[in-house]
Order: sequence, then C-alpha cells, then structure tokens
Amino acid sequence: MLQRSVRTPVGTRPTFFKKLFGNEPYSPSTRGQFLAPASKGCLKKIVVRTCCQYSSRRRYSTGKRFLGHVSNYLSQGKSPSGSSHSTSSASDLLPSFFSVNEQLQTLLRTPSFQNLQIKLDELKYDECFSNPTPIPQKKVSFTPTTVDSAPLDPLLSDSPTSPHPPSFVQPHPPFHVFSAPVLDIRTLTNPGAIKRTYNVTLDVSKYPLREGSDWKIGGSFGVMPPNPDNEIFRLAHLLNIPLNELYATKILHTSGGRWPTIWGEEKPRALTTSIYHILKWCTDFLSKPPSKDFYRLLAKYSTNSVEHHILLGLSNCSQNICSENFSVSDILDAFPNVRPPVDEVISLLPQLMPRWYSISNDPDLGKGVLEMAFTVQEFTAPDGQTRTGICSGFLENVALEYLKCQQNGTLKNKKFTLPMFRGVQQNPFAKEFHNDGPMCLIGAGVGIAPFRGFVQRRLANASCTGKVWIIQGCRDQTLDELYHGEWNTIPGHHTNPKCRAKKLVVESRNGKREYVQDAVRRHGKIIWDVINHKNGRIYLCGSGKAFATEIEKAIMDIAMKYGGYKKEEAARQLEYWQSPINYKFVKEVW
Ligand SMILES: Cc1cc2nc3c(=O)[nH]c(=O)nc-3n(C[C@H](O)[C@H](O)[C@H](O)COP(=O)(O)OP(=O)(O)OC[C@H]3O[C@@H](n4cnc5c(N)ncnc54)[C@H](O)[C@@H]3O)c2cc1C
Ligand SMILES: NC(=O)c1ccc[n+]([C@@H]2O[C@H](COP(=O)([O-])OP(=O)(O)OC[C@H]3O[C@@H](n4cnc5c(N)ncnc54)[C@H](OP(=O)(O)O)[C@@H]3O)[C@@H](O)[C@H]2O)c1
Repeated sequence: MLQRSVRTPVGTRPTFFKKLFGNEPYSPSTRGQFLAPASKGCLKKIVVRTCCQYSSRRRYSTGKRFLGHVSNYLSQGKSPSGSSHSTSSASDLLPSFFSVNEQLQTLLRTPSFQNLQIKLDELKYDECFSNPTPIPQKKVSFTPTTVDSAPLDPLLSDSPTSPHPPSFVQPHPPFHVFSAPVLDIRTLTNPGAIKRTYNVTLDVSKYPLREGSDWKIGGSFGVMPPNPDNEIFRLAHLLNIPLNELYATKILHTSGGRWPTIWGEEKPRALTTSIYHILKWCTDFLSKPPSKDFYRLLAKYSTNSVEHHILLGLSNCSQNICSENFSVSDILDAFPNVRPPVDEVISLLPQLMPRWYSISNDPDLGKGVLEMAFTVQEFTAPDGQTRTGICSGFLENVALEYLKCQQNGTLKNKKFTLPMFRGVQQNPFAKEFHNDGPMCLIGAGVGIAPFRGFVQRRLANASCTGKVWIIQGCRDQTLDELYHGEWNTIPGHHTNPKCRAKKLVVESRNGKREYVQDAVRRHGKIIWDVINHKNGRIYLCGSGKAFATEIEKAIMDIAMKYGGYKKEEAARQLEYWQSPINYKFVKEVW
C-alpha cells in the first residue's frame, strides 16, 4: 500500500489537525507515528506526539508502536477491538484513527495510568487477537434476599480491634476460626527502625483443641486477616457498587469448589452474606498482581478501544512490562472505561488466605498463652504511597490501637481479639525441635522469633547439658535487636546457669556491617562441632530469599575447611544434614 510520510513541523499545526482538534493546544514535538488515510486506498504516515507530559519519565513508553499496531488493524479493515469493519473505505476510517489517538492521549494524561508505567510498545498484541484465550466461566453470583429472612451469623464481627470472619470461612472444619483475646502487645523495635516489629500475647486457654493435640514449641498458627475497609470502599467505588448495595444482605451462589470456605468441601453453595463481607474476608485483591484472566475480563468490559487493546496486550505478557507493585484496584483506577460486574470480578480473584506466625514462646511454660512476633511488611505502591501487607498491616492497626488504649488507660473499654487457628503444626521446627544436645540457632529479622521458645524450653530444663548458641541478625542493635535482654530469663522459673544461651548479634547497617553468614563463617568451628555432635543441631529461620542460600554456602565452606571436603562432597554433606532422616540442619525460611 502506498504511504506518504508527513512530519508535523515543530510548532506548526497542519490544517487537518486543526479541523479535527480545533484550537486545542497540542504538543509540537514528534514522538509517535500514526497512520491516517489521506485518500481512498492510500494511507499517509503522520507523526504525532503521543504524550507531551511524560518526557521526564524516562521509563515511560511513547505508545509509538502501539498506535502503529492499532493503525495496522484499522488498515486491515478491523476495528481496534478486533472485530471487522462493515466498510473499509478510507473516509470511514479517518475518524477511527483520530479517535484512537484521542483515547490514547486521554489515557496517557491520567495519573493513575501513568503510575503503572506500562511499556506500551513492548506489549504483545498479535497472539491475543489471532488466538484469544477464553475467560474461565463465572462461578459466583449474588441474588437479593430480605434482611428479615436472613439468619444472623453469630460469629461475624466487623469491629476493627476484634474482627471475626463469617462462619463459612472455616480453616479446619468442624472448628471455626477462634477469636483469641489479646493479653498484651508491645513493640520490639525502637523508633527509627527500618522495619517495625511487635510481640503479641494471646489467651488460647479456651481454644477448642482436638483431643490429644496441643500447641507445639516451634509450631506456627494461622491468622485470618480481613482486607482493610478503605481498600474495600475503593474497590467498590471503582466497580460502581453503591454503599447500600455493598452492605445489602444477599445470597451468594457458587457453582462448586471450596471457595469461599478455606479448606471446606468442594461443592456448590448458597450462603447468606453481603458483597462487603465477601470482599473483606474471602478475596485477595491486594497482595497479588492481577492474573491474565483478570486482564481478559477487564478487556471484555472495556468500552474504549485503546483500553481494550492495552488490557489484552497485558493479558499476553509475562513480566517487566510495567511497574509490579499494583493491585486490582490500581488497574481499575488506571482504566476508567472498564467497570466489570462484581460477581465476575470475584469469580477471578484468588481466595484470601491465612498467614502463618511462629509461636515465639514455650507453650508449655504458660499454659494457654501463646506469643508471636510480627514484622510489618511494607512496599511502595504505584502512586508512591507506602502500603503494608494485608495481615501485618491489619496486625499493626490492632497493635497501635491497643498501645493507644494502654497509654490512655482505656484498655478495659475495648475488646481486643485476633482471628486465629491452630493449623496442623507440621512445619519443620514443630516436628524437629529436640531439647537435648547442643544447638546453634541462626535467625535474621523476625526469623529469630521461634528460637525464643527453644531457649525458654532449654532454660526450664534444670538438667540440660547441651550448649545453645544464638546468631541473631538485625540492622542496628540499638533499633531492632528483637527480644534484647530476654534470652536468659524466664520470669518465675528456675534456670540452670550452666545452660545460659550464648548470643551473638550481627548488625547489617551499623558497626561491622555484617550479615549472619559472615559470623557463621567466623565461628565455623562451633558450627562444625555442633553439627558433628551426636545430638547437635543447627536451626535456621528467616527470609526465604538469598538469606537461606547464603547460609548454606557458609556451612559448605565450614565443611570444606574443618572436614577437608571438596566442594561437591560438601554439597552432598549439606544435603545429608538436611535430609529428614538426619535433620542436623533444620531450616524454616519464608
Ligand atoms: C511457617 C511460617 C511462619 C512464619 N512466621 C512468621 C513470624 O513469626 N513473624 C512474621 O512476621 N512473619 C512470619 N511469617 C510470614 C507471614 O506469614 C506473612 O507472610 C507476613 O507477615 C506477610 O504477610 P502480609 O499479609 O502482611 O503480606 P502480604 O499481603 O501477603 O504481602 C506479601 C509481601 O508482598 C508485599 N506486597 C503485597 N502487595 C504488594 C504489591 N501490590 N506490590 C508489591 N509488593 C506487595 C508485602 O509488602 C509483603 O512483603 C511466617 C510464614 C510462614 C510460612
Ligand atoms: N517460621 C518461619 O518460617 C518464619 C518465622 C519468622 C519469620 N520468617 C520470615 O523471616 C523473614 C524475616 O524478615 P524481616 O522482615 O523481619 O527481616 P529482613 O528484611 O529479612 O531482614 C533481616 C536482616 O537480614 C538481613 N539480610 C538481608 N539480606 C540478607 C542476605 N542475603 N543474607 C543475610 N542477611 C540478609 C537484613 O539486612 P539489610 O536489610 O541491611 O540488607 C537485616 O539485617 C520474613 O521473610 C519472614 O517471613 C519465617
């Protein structure tokens, strides 16, 4: 096809642009190419600026290829949404080209769209148009009910300091999530710490334990977090759900599967609830980026061809196409012409899952009392705001209110409980804690928490002989050395001075600026002796990222240095120490 390329000179406005855009100011610089039909059967290439405001955003894509792609579709007689035009005459196409460009300009000017930093030119469109993947069938629907006929859920609570999920959210049928009264909350970090950590003490004396089961040292329990109200209202607003509709009692119908229970039976359900409670307790629309099916759903409901194209392109890309820290609401916010029905949205959202926390005390010492430590996990959202993880953010809100009431002397006026449950206690520490023999406990950040219980158990054993070494990683001892000064004391209990734990604190952002693996190497002889002792064990807890691999490398180095192993032999030896039949080296990293 014959094409004529016309470059719009800087600062000038060709007559036909004037006709189309009137006297609206437009940018003089030329950043995007756009095909427009000049006359029947002949397209001329016009270079237009796709976005004047984003030159400072180096990572921002211009949309040049994007426009080329849409133009290509048009020139093939297809509409930007993929359907065929009834006529392909150039004069019919002209408005479409410009409306596409206008739609793109509008989108590019939208701050919430800019925040996503989508590299438009790297999106892959062709496959999703030539071979579109179908959206999974809707599996959820709501029907109205009258409030009078709806039975009240006896467990449900919307209180921010004592929330409880609907009865059907059952992690371990026939038991329900348990509302554990909070006995105490305190901060373990000082102001200025990069991450904030709190210790929570819970009363589980009335927990409905199954016969023969108990809380295990080193075990972890589940906390069922609610989504924050501000995020629920934001999502409801973006889905055009009015408040009365959000709170209205409805019958939720599911076509099968476990959802919205957690580990319930797989079967269709009809449950009395509200959209608010389903969004609050049963859907994860914050901690995971939208799925490809979700983008396809949004594309299906887009009333704007540019948004439709971009969303289909996103559904076809794996990664590095845009900023990664966004949620379902951020996407809806960025695409203002996409408003899918709530039941279809809920059908595609993952289940909101409980989070696990290590028991940080010896549950045998204070019967019916559990302690846990949690660190607030934060990230920067696309709008530059700091947001927290769902559960650690929820726990921190409860903690802050608790501490405020404690300060005001108003604790008695408010109920503080956490929605939690026991779980199977089959994590490595719960299964593999041994109270005899020497042990070396290596933990970074809040990964030190389960070891506090280990030490308490060892200290309470007056006849113990094995030594305990603790290597604790933090950033700055003055700010975030968790459980500082608490390791060799158990109030009210006899402790054997012979088995005092020896502790080494390693600071990553102060003093020597070391990581725990540096201390592990430096004290390699102790590690070597412990691991080779008949009952000796090394326990490791912390982040599952590079941390665990680095410690494993350090232990291999120790095996080479003190055991004379070659590298491959040391790797095999590490595997042997970690194998469930030996478990000389037990790790729990997340
Ligand atoms: C057996 C076990 C024991 C554990 N013990 C403890 C413990 O004792 N103490 C403890 O503090 N933790 C512990 N954890 C980790 C804990 O379960 C949670 O994973 C942790 O608290 C974070 O949960 P969250 O809901 O706050 O974050 P989530 O909402 O699940 O988010 C997960 C991470 O992703 C980030 N994130 C969320 N949304 C986005 C987004 N849109 N963009 C970018 N990043 C995002 C969050 O900041 C966070 O770092 C344990 C885990 C396991 C499996
Ligand atoms: N039972 C369990 O499985 C369990 C229990 C509790 C916690 N956890 C997990 O433990 C982790 C603790 O995290 P946190 O948020 O409190 O702290 P964190 O962010 O992991 O940081 C703790 C310390 O580790 C350092 N660090 C960072 N990268 C490292 C590396 N490659 N090698 C060695 N040290 C490294 C940090 O230093 P810099 O920041 O200076 O780099 C900091 O001093 C979480 O992921 C949590 O899920 C698991």
